[in-house]
Amino acid sequence: MSPDNTVLSHRGEDRKQLREQLEATLEAINSSYSDESAFSGIDPNELRRRISQIDILPEEGLGFDAALDLLRREVLPHMLRTWSVDYMPHLHSPALMESIPAELVISTYNNSMDSWDQGPAATEVELATVRLLCSLFGYGADSDGCFTSGGSQSNLSAITAARDWWVKKNLDWDVKKHGNPDCYGRLRLYTSSISHFSMEKSCHLLGLGYEAVVKLPVDSQCRIDLAEARRIIQADVDRGLLPFCIVATIGTTDFGSVDDIAGLRKLADCFGCHLHADAAYGSGAVMSRRYRDRTGDLSLADSITVDFHKMFLLPISCSAILVRNAGLLSCFELHADYLNREEDEEDGYVNLVGKSIQTTRRADALKVFFSFLTRGRNGYGRIIDTVISNADHFYERLCSDRDFICPVRPTLSSVVFALDRGDDVNRAVRRRLLSEGCVIGQTVYQGRVMLKFTLLNPALTPAHIDELIERIRRAAAGVEES
Ligand SMILES: Cc1ncc(COP(=O)(O)O)c(C=O)c1O
Repeated sequence: MSPDNTVLSHRGEDRKQLREQLEATLEAINSSYSDESAFSGIDPNELRRRISQIDILPEEGLGFDAALDLLRREVLPHMLRTWSVDYMPHLHSPALMESIPAELVISTYNNSMDSWDQGPAATEVELATVRLLCSLFGYGADSDGCFTSGGSQSNLSAITAARDWWVKKNLDWDVKKHGNPDCYGRLRLYTSSISHFSMEKSCHLLGLGYEAVVKLPVDSQCRIDLAEARRIIQADVDRGLLPFCIVATIGTTDFGSVDDIAGLRKLADCFGCHLHADAAYGSGAVMSRRYRDRTGDLSLADSITVDFHKMFLLPISCSAILVRNAGLLSCFELHADYLNREEDEEDGYVNLVGKSIQTTRRADALKVFFSFLTRGRNGYGRIIDTVISNADHFYERLCSDRDFICPVRPTLSSVVFALDRGDDVNRAVRRRLLSEGCVIGQTVYQGRVMLKFTLLNPALTPAHIDELIERIRRAAAGVEES
């Protein structure tokens, strides 16, 4: 195989080279693992030593075959295998089979979503997919949305739009032109004490600082306590603070708990705030007829974060921000002569850069488009049904087992639990499993070290969950003996 051809062309030899390189890459991936474990278990220092020995930029390139061989020997065996049923620590999913070819399409064409002339079909695919998503979540004809790099950027987009909208409505001040108003230090965003840290990061980036984020207490099921929320917001208003946004978490990072969106809508209306639903995790439940009620009616929110690289099982990165009123996204609109001329848009060439924080942007909507087409509503629904019912099964098993505690009933697909032993035993069990190639999560609940299963893999069965419980029990016995 010649390493000399640089980019794909219409020529048969380039097409042949791409096919051969893809076949060789697939072969390297397939030969890099032989069992169902998630990880080789290699020590981090040993892995660092081995990878740091590689001369990454030799004077003369190795050529494709030798570079692939090196990757196959030194890197692939120690990649995390997200498709393994022994991988469950984070909101980080395996990729649906058909989404891997979809990624190939995205990177082969390498279209960009900023202007129509950089991705004609990709732009139309995103427009159509956003329209479908808006209707899936119950939004009407005035809604709109845009794909982003992930939940953090979707949340930043929503909070930026909320801040600009509130300041314009209440102070007749255009933040886009003039920056934050003088009273910016009094603006406040309200969210659960266990919400994602992208709330703080967003407020920092918007010049409001972490202090703008007021963390509301949660009840025993890890949902915002509405009575307390009302009391806290009212007290802040009485002190002269300016509530501009409430964020409902629809699937908290650890517990998958879901805030009461209808209750928070009432609060947002009462205090004149924007209501954002951070459904980075829980949005996938919309595909399940059996479980979609568990998230409440997300159309009550003014904006929704939807992550496709979590419960929708699509490759990183893939997320969208949806807004009930398209005008909210105008905070990102800006025209440049070199990119998105107004006259082009008047003639129907839609330039999506006008709705986005990013300029160059991957055609990630294509993955959603392709997986939706491939599986349909029912196929996707079965996946979501499986992962949520697995979590319910795991919870029931733990509740009837005296070796474990499990304080919060799962709403989605995450279960936080602990062996009813000391923190040290729980910590050591997780480490021991990691060295055996089984990767589970760890967090803290009410000051206690807890273990966590984030069950996103539909290949996992109740029988395997039962085996995992026994494996954890055995690991605990081993830790206590040593
Ligand atoms: C509730 C919630 N919101 C937002 C995010 C951020 O998403 P991303 O990692 O895609 O930026 C996460 C990530 O886990 C999350 O759990």
